[in-house]
Amino acid sequence: MMSLLRKAILTVSANPLITRFVSKYGMKLGASRFVAGENMTDTIQTAKEINQDSRVLTLDLLGESVYTKEKARSATQSAVESFDVIAEEGVNSNISVKLTQLGLDIDYDFCLENMDRVTAKAKETGNFVRIDMEDSPRVEKTIDLFTTLLGKYGKEHIGLVIQSYLYRSEEDVKRLGELGANLRIVKGAYKEPKEVAFPEKRDVDKAYRKLVEIHLKNGCYTAVATHDEAIIDWTKSFVKKNGIPDNLYEFQMLYGIRTALQKELAAEGYKVRVYTPYGKDWYPYFTRRIAERPANALFVLKSFFQR
Ligand code: FDA
Repeated sequence: MMSLLRKAILTVSANPLITRFVSKYGMKLGASRFVAGENMTDTIQTAKEINQDSRVLTLDLLGESVYTKEKARSATQSAVESFDVIAEEGVNSNISVKLTQLGLDIDYDFCLENMDRVTAKAKETGNFVRIDMEDSPRVEKTIDLFTTLLGKYGKEHIGLVIQSYLYRSEEDVKRLGELGANLRIVKGAYKEPKEVAFPEKRDVDKAYRKLVEIHLKNGCYTAVATHDEAIIDWTKSFVKKNGIPDNLYEFQMLYGIRTALQKELAAEGYKVRVYTPYGKDWYPYFTRRIAERPANALFVLKSFFQR
């Protein structure tokens, strides 16, 4: 039932009329709950506040499905510059990017060149960039591009995301584990057919634990990115029981979601990273957050009527 509702929301949100309406009024309607700001100045302010209670960040300049080289180059430049802003402002943050924003759908080599620039800058500034994972037709290309740059720059400067809802992910995690890759494990946020992804939530959750277990037991850095308390508690006992050192894992959650839990974990001494999106192109990100939890749609409607 929930997965049907999720698919319905993702389908309706692709409607051009809905897109136009929400893009125009969305920040006021409640998108600001999930998006730190439309510009860098507001976002840095928020980032500093997050740092104050020992949480660190990964900043994500919103944008995806870019189809012109000009836009992809501009997104690349912004990503490169964001490392300078992070350093100048003294914020404890790395960055996350989406390859379609850097031109993956235009041309693979062009995208590789752009991502190479971003990763070179990550290395130059002693920082780190993580490639978000998008929908299943792009997974293979994303992993290829990632492994090329991992070989060139090393796991200290570039990481990847793997989605537990995909059947293929167990093999991918094993393969990437051999390369020592730094992985963020997520459940997966896109509308995928049952031919490639588990349709049942309980299977996605079970696969999630398995991927975390495989990667940690391989001695590889693992970002446990979920708001699922059962999985978070399971991770806490797993690392304790298996003597996994604190510098081999971190928890990650999205800006605006389960903030109290984020602070609680940080206060207990766990490393907590807040995925903090910013920028003007927040619509697709926002609709995925609504689809994950339809109660959020009620929150948005309420904001509309309270204006
Ligand atoms: P689940 O959906 O089971 O939710 C567990 C609980 O968390 C819910 O009961 C609710 O309390 C709370 N919750 C979850 N979503 C909520 C929401 N939107 N609003 C309010 N409460 C909510 N996906 C992807 O495909 N590619 C990627 O690169 C990334 N990157 C990424 C980074 C980080 C740091 C996180 C936390 C997540 C992602 N995701 C992602 C999204 C991920 O795939 C997944 O869709 C969401 O995290 C929701 O799933 P949960 O693991 O939280 O569990």
